[in-house]
Amino acid sequence: MELIESVGMTDNALGDDGVLEIDTTISLEITWHAMEDLVSMLLVRSIGISNYDIFFTRDCLAYSKIKPAMNQIETHPYFQRDSLVKFCQKHGVCVTAHTPLGGAAANIEWFDHKFLKGLAEKYTKTAAQILRRWGIQRNTVVIPKSLKLERLQENIQVFDFELSKKDMELMESMDKKYRTNQPTRFWGIDLFA
Ligand SMILES: NC(=O)c1ccc[n+]([C@@H]2O[C@H](COP(=O)([O-])OP(=O)(O)OC[C@H]3O[C@@H](n4cnc5c(N)ncnc54)[C@H](OP(=O)(O)O)[C@@H]3O)[C@@H](O)[C@H]2O)c1
Repeated sequence: MELIESVGMTDNALGDDGVLEIDTTISLEITWHAMEDLVSMLLVRSIGISNYDIFFTRDCLAYSKIKPAMNQIETHPYFQRDSLVKFCQKHGVCVTAHTPLGGAAANIEWFDHKFLKGLAEKYTKTAAQILRRWGIQRNTVVIPKSLKLERLQENIQVFDFELSKKDMELMESMDKKYRTNQPTRFWGIDLFA
């Protein structure tokens, strides 16, 4: 309880004035040091960050005694974020690719992308498998989610083929800098605006 109080509580909601009601006395640095304490207390093994851009990641590297093991960010061929991925990897922060299939809303349309369909035919794989393989080959941890057993199995079957260097390069042209996931959208505000 003492630890929770030192970290602070976030309301995740708008105030009466329509402005995000968030604790302004607790910085990300204070939160990080509280998480480091959990490691020292052997309560957790590894700590990481999520949805941190290059500057947040840089700051975290600067103030941390224990470096973040992981930055979990949205990345997929339509939102490649190469600079951020390479920056993290260069500084020893593993990158996890969340929403790797674009989430429920996007992937139906994406799977019909002409180039992606062509690759799926070429490698006799599904579009989802091509997307996951692409992420693995750029050394990210790719975490698609499915409620269907056959898709869970499908999503695992990606270690028996390899996209060629040329196809990896061609996939760079799929980038639309398109973010499908807005972690704060449910608050009714756009933190990235
Ligand atoms: N850190 C963050 O801010 C953050 C934000 C968003 C998500 N995440 C994490 O990222 C992971 C994945 O997120 P997500 O579910 O939003 O995105 P996703 O994995 O990109 O998309 C999931 C959608 O893809 C479908 N799907 C899964 N496998 C498929 C396949 N082989 N073929 C066709 N469709 C397939 C699923 O439908 P069915 O279930 O019907 O198969 C579901 O509708 C989760 O662990 C989530 O917690 C983290």
